[in-house]
Amino acid sequence: MTKAMEILNSLTLEEKASLTSGKDCWRTVDIEGKLASIMMSDGPHGLRKEESGGTVPATCFPSSATVANSWDEELMYKIGEALGEECLANDVQVILGPGVNIKRTPLCGRNFEYFSEDPLLATKMACGHIRGVQSKGVGACIKHFAANNQETDRFSVNAVIDERTLREIYLSSFEEAVKEAKPWMIMSAYNKLNGDYCSENKPLLTDILRDEWGYEGLVVSDWGAANEPVNGVKAGLDIRMPGPVPSANAAIVEAVKSGKLSTEELDKNVLRIIELVEKGIKGRIADYKADMTAHNDLAMKAAEESAVLLKNGVLPLKKSDKIALIGAFAEEIRYQGGGSSCVNATEVSNLLQSLDDKSIDYTYAKGFKTEDDSVDENLVSEAVAASEKSDKIVICMGLPFRMESEGFDRWTMSLPSNQIGLFNKLSTLGKPIVVLLFQGSPVEMEWSEAADSILAMYTGGQAVAKACVNLLFGDAVPSGKLSETWPLRLENNPTALSFPEKGTATYSEGVYVGYRYYDKKHLDVMYPFGYGLSYTTFEYSDLELSATDISESDTLEVTFKVKNTGSVAGKEIAELYVEPTYPSVSRPVRELKGFKKIYLEPGEEKTVTMTLSKRSFAYYDVETHDWQVDTTVYKIHVGPSSRNLPLVASLKVTSSRSGKTFFTTDSRVYELNANPISKEALNKLLTEDLKLDISALSIDLPLSKLVGFSGGILSVDMLDRFVMELNEKIK
Ligand code: GLC
Repeated sequence: MTKAMEILNSLTLEEKASLTSGKDCWRTVDIEGKLASIMMSDGPHGLRKEESGGTVPATCFPSSATVANSWDEELMYKIGEALGEECLANDVQVILGPGVNIKRTPLCGRNFEYFSEDPLLATKMACGHIRGVQSKGVGACIKHFAANNQETDRFSVNAVIDERTLREIYLSSFEEAVKEAKPWMIMSAYNKLNGDYCSENKPLLTDILRDEWGYEGLVVSDWGAANEPVNGVKAGLDIRMPGPVPSANAAIVEAVKSGKLSTEELDKNVLRIIELVEKGIKGRIADYKADMTAHNDLAMKAAEESAVLLKNGVLPLKKSDKIALIGAFAEEIRYQGGGSSCVNATEVSNLLQSLDDKSIDYTYAKGFKTEDDSVDENLVSEAVAASEKSDKIVICMGLPFRMESEGFDRWTMSLPSNQIGLFNKLSTLGKPIVVLLFQGSPVEMEWSEAADSILAMYTGGQAVAKACVNLLFGDAVPSGKLSETWPLRLENNPTALSFPEKGTATYSEGVYVGYRYYDKKHLDVMYPFGYGLSYTTFEYSDLELSATDISESDTLEVTFKVKNTGSVAGKEIAELYVEPTYPSVSRPVRELKGFKKIYLEPGEEKTVTMTLSKRSFAYYDVETHDWQVDTTVYKIHVGPSSRNLPLVASLKVTSSRSGKTFFTTDSRVYELNANPISKEALNKLLTEDLKLDISALSIDLPLSKLVGFSGGILSVDMLDRFVMELNEKIK
């Protein structure tokens, strides 16, 4: 018998029930002589441990949306390690992150805290985060499970999502992270999912999470997300936070006594709590000291690796340049988002200090206010004056705290008008102008034509200013790429007509999220998913596939070469997308199925290898409730971004599914085509009996419609007989 089981058996019913809600805001209940308490605190990009009216000093790393732009799982792992170390130093056993919710729209207030619009990129970054934290004997808690994609009405909005979209987009990053990185905890979201609160959603918390994915960790509610306690236990919620909630504990005791809740059901949850506490206690290291200097250096490195060079005509600057440093964000550096992720950063440098550190000759002018959008003419005049006496202008623009945070969604994708107005005025001075963006999510850039260079720093953490200056002067080379599309305008986003919805949020765009939508609609975008420039250039060549005809159970090896064709060393993120040429269901044009970041010296060339398997080609089939592969030809695209894929090769993948084995007159043409027997029978019917050119017919056509196309030859009875004979033949 395990120690956890022994402890379980030693507990009274009341003690067991008391464990299902927190001891206080951050700790689990301890039971004298039987079970200690452990502490959990926020993340995800820095430790936010509350103490004496504030929070402990901690390293504020770049937010998840920012580090996702590095496309570097290893870097995320290193940040996870550092987070784990700071938890050890502060006696915290679980850090509440990463947040992996997919970005439906640029307006979600917490986008700065989430990785991507793409499940694969979100998954890989989440795995790096979780593995890094847990390598230190501290737990990670992936969140918010699931479909917490808006802040508006977040405590009760009902996310209505079809099964395929849910699986392919909104659960996918949780699924792979749970299976690959095994987070100690997963946090159930505030909202409802298809009618039931996530914290009482048995299909979500038990049928999918545990029975299908095999998750063995603990489910904690988001803070205040739990509702009816007995339904929560039955659905698979283990701990409701915060606590204590005596009424909930009493309801559980009463339910067991009345038989409404079985002891076995309660024991399953309580055992997971005991096992979590055991792990947390085991990981403790007394008097642990974290190297905060090293962590600050890591935060700077991460910000350098995550910055995205969106446009370049004049970077890197020369250290001898006389710079006009314009914009309040140079001084009031914007380095993190608002809400529960807000960190009491150990040190924050701003751009003025960082430029001073490099003895750069600059003149600073605030240029605009951040507390509102109003224009302060004095600030504008100072900015113009500073610019007129300088060689180059560096303007720091972005989203103030008041425009993006947990707790509310953005109401616009625009930058404040006073910033744009100032930019327009400075751009008439005929001087090179560099735009630095400090924001946690995309902004509209229609004003930026006159910018010579644009560098997006996102919410780059406490050392973002140092990183920014290193990048500006070439002491670091930009290598980040966008983990989310920047649409030309908000109205081009598929949710623009309805977001944010209160009460019920209907995800009518389905799987067409982010680039999946813009590519399908052939919409121009400001900056595509996966896009980012460097100070050097790269060339792709020699794409090879290990096979051109495989079955879905095979793996495929893809190799290609990348060469640094520029004059400075740099890193390139190579991206691989898969395009089904003849899908049986409506699918995105192409989807990210592999990526790798590589370092190349000038002139150096490396061979990159990626491996694809069934899930690289599959879609989620709602009839079989499983991942299926179409038998068709797939194109493998490789290149620097979702919209720049110079290499392409094709292969045929044969599904192991022989197609349906039972047809009706409502069966679609493509379903008969997926099975060799029914395909032959249909071809005979159409070409010999009806002399119909099927190629002209839509593959989605129900068989019943053939009567109308047959010129009176085919009757409903004849079709019924055809289907009956076919089913006999196939059986
Ligand atoms: C918040 C957030 C969640 C956080 C928790 C504890 O409301 O939704 O991400 O971890 O409560 O602060």
